[in-house]
Amino acid sequence: MASWLNRGGRAGSAFRLSSGGQPSSSEARFFAQPVVARLLLMGSLLSSGAIPARAEPTFFTARIAPIFEQHCVGCHGPEKHKAGLRVDSFENVMRGSESGEILKPGDLKASELFRRITLPASDDEVMPSDGKPLLSADEITLIRLWIESGASATRSLAEYPDAPVPKPTRQAHVPLAPDWTPRAAEIAALEKEIGVKLVPRSKIPTDGLVVRTASAPQRCDDAALSKLAPIAALIVDAELARTKITDEGLKAMATWENLRKLDLTRTSITSDGLSACAALKKLEVLNLTDTAVDDTGVARLKEMPMLQRLWLFGTKAAPVELPAKLAAH
Ligand code: HEC
Repeated sequence: MASWLNRGGRAGSAFRLSSGGQPSSSEARFFAQPVVARLLLMGSLLSSGAIPARAEPTFFTARIAPIFEQHCVGCHGPEKHKAGLRVDSFENVMRGSESGEILKPGDLKASELFRRITLPASDDEVMPSDGKPLLSADEITLIRLWIESGASATRSLAEYPDAPVPKPTRQAHVPLAPDWTPRAAEIAALEKEIGVKLVPRSKIPTDGLVVRTASAPQRCDDAALSKLAPIAALIVDAELARTKITDEGLKAMATWENLRKLDLTRTSITSDGLSACAALKKLEVLNLTDTAVDDTGVARLKEMPMLQRLWLFGTKAAPVELPAKLAAH
């Protein structure tokens, strides 16, 4: 997604009241996290020296470590080590718990770890404990294959051709907007007429549309925006930097009920126009860089309950505490 949100260079000018490096829930949605988590995990496994760095993925890093990471490390990792056990690296798994080894390579029956993950849910000793979801049949099969074949750190993924391939864990999808697909023809016609791009935000049809103007921002003006009214509910992100829109255009946008992100960089909007924006109850990110907005305009944004990020670089406005952040306190 090419947008100013991703341009690291501007980060310093972003006025951001975030409590540390925690990504907000919206960012977690916008930028998929699991890949990062997995890379970090692999990084920590590599840096522990347990796994030789080589291009071919090992069965342990590709299939076993992610299971531990997802289901066990919360209680058996760097923060908590219940029973003196950590399973966040190959070495730690092999080191075992305070009562000794938890698995015996090649011997399922002598492997406490395997016994624990295959107990019935009602058993006091089942792992994960505390009513957390138990491992799937595929996950148990992977761990079984791994222990049976010697619990190796180095055997490659290719050596387990029959191992089940885990299904990617899909996060429950929250629709951001109505399904746009039944209106594809109407959308295409509008693109042609107005000269803006209306791009699906993802492959998921209820993730909404992004209004892109970057190839010809000067063609987009207030009249163009008002023509988008019939599909306003489908728009979740409007990239309007350097367009000709004015406060009049902002008024037209007050009905864009599903808008999450709005970029007004270098437009001629003013503080007056922002009173219309207060109706955008779902807006999370607003870029006002290099506009004439001042404190009176920013004060109007206090009514936006979801606003988490506000760019005021190049304006006369002083930083404010954002509503979404206040609510979190
Ligand atoms: C919610 C916290 C929690 C989670 C999640 C969890 N465990 Fe545990 N685990 C514990 C606690 C507490 C103990 C100590 C009490 C006991 O032995 O039942 C324990 C004990 C164990 C033991 C026995 C250690 C010994 O030497 O007695 C093993 C093996 C184990 N866990 C493996 C796992 C594995 C594998 C996972 C993930 C599939 C997992 N645990 C997930 C809390 C957890």
